[in-house]
Amino acid sequence: MKRDQNDHPRSNAFRRRDFLIGAGQLTAGMALARTLPESAFAQTVIKGKERLIVRSIRPEDLETPVSLLNTWITPNDLFYVRHHLYAAKVDVNEWKLTVGGEVQNPITLTLDELKRAPKHAVTVTLECAGNGRAFFDPPVAGIQWERGAVGTARFAGARLADVLNKAGVKPTGQYVAMNGADKPLGKMPDFIRNVPIKKALDPDTILAYEMNGEALPILHGFPLRAVIPGWEGAYSVKWLTDIQVIENEFDGFFVKTAYRFPNRPVAPGEAVDPKDMVPLTGLVVKSFINSPLDGATVACGKVRLSGFAWAGEANILRVDVSMDNGSSWLPAKLGKERERYSWQSFEYEFNITQPGSYLLMSRATDDKGNVQPIAARWNPSGYLWNVIDRVRINVKA
Ligand code: MTE
Repeated sequence: MKRDQNDHPRSNAFRRRDFLIGAGQLTAGMALARTLPESAFAQTVIKGKERLIVRSIRPEDLETPVSLLNTWITPNDLFYVRHHLYAAKVDVNEWKLTVGGEVQNPITLTLDELKRAPKHAVTVTLECAGNGRAFFDPPVAGIQWERGAVGTARFAGARLADVLNKAGVKPTGQYVAMNGADKPLGKMPDFIRNVPIKKALDPDTILAYEMNGEALPILHGFPLRAVIPGWEGAYSVKWLTDIQVIENEFDGFFVKTAYRFPNRPVAPGEAVDPKDMVPLTGLVVKSFINSPLDGATVACGKVRLSGFAWAGEANILRVDVSMDNGSSWLPAKLGKERERYSWQSFEYEFNITQPGSYLLMSRATDDKGNVQPIAARWNPSGYLWNVIDRVRINVKA
């Protein structure tokens, strides 16, 4: 059955979840929980991440409900978690970072040695490339993220450029391959990613040991992770232990097969020849509404809409909102808090005088002229969903 454009597929799931996490509704929530799948029961088991939605429990893939994404900086306990392999538990006294390959002097650094390099902080919106995968039609296999595999944190650490310059990159060094301490199970490939040398040497590309002023939490890569600002989250390798400067693109599953996108528009459901798939890099222009929530009932009169918008390496130019199914658009007010690679809040106060059902929408535009589309660009792995966001609300007299 074809879905109506306005019948947003997340609606029921979101209503159910907001119901479950709502304070004061525990008893009703528990009764409802009896009818829910196993993942719903697991919501309190990941220590320190109790309020997140469990998308996979082993390894942990945790999504933030959009209702909790309402601050410019996402607190560590609310920050989404994504990894392919089990989180590595690293003994920091044993931990070392090795840097080798196409360099003049291969080096090994302890955390203390790394901390002697100048400290640089960047506020970065990190988003999983698969955020929104659940909305693709036809559906795509993979973790069924809705809107909350995204968050913004202030990461601090050493510049990757300082470490690479210490080792001395040879002219043959074109990519920087990064591996973490997480180990594959059985025949699974290791999670090794690479970044082109230009992005690796960017002064905002860092090896972070701090997240929001604290040591990196284990689930976010303790003791060290790469932060590749503006690029999809899979570049930001966690539990980092090894950096190899290489001549050609790394020949492993997580570079050559995963995190790739068709180089031309393809028909929904079409199989794409691997030679027509290119690596994902920057995040695309996107916004989401965090209030009101989908399915909310509000009173007639002033209805305040708010949310966040981001655009990877580009900047948000404007966000427009609509309350009439996209027939007309009004400019939202952008928040003052912003940094080069961080999201920006937006808000608009509607005056809705007539009771009824309203579809509120948000559409961001970046300074490179990209605008959120009205329909998804379907792709085989369900990456980069950035369709205009929408919530349906019920306005009561
Ligand atoms: N790093 C390692 N070592 N292993 C992983 O599986 N997952 C990546 C990236 N870094 C991953 C990794 C992916 S797909 C994403 S989206 C981000 O980490 C998520 O970072 P977070 O869990 O801190 O939010």
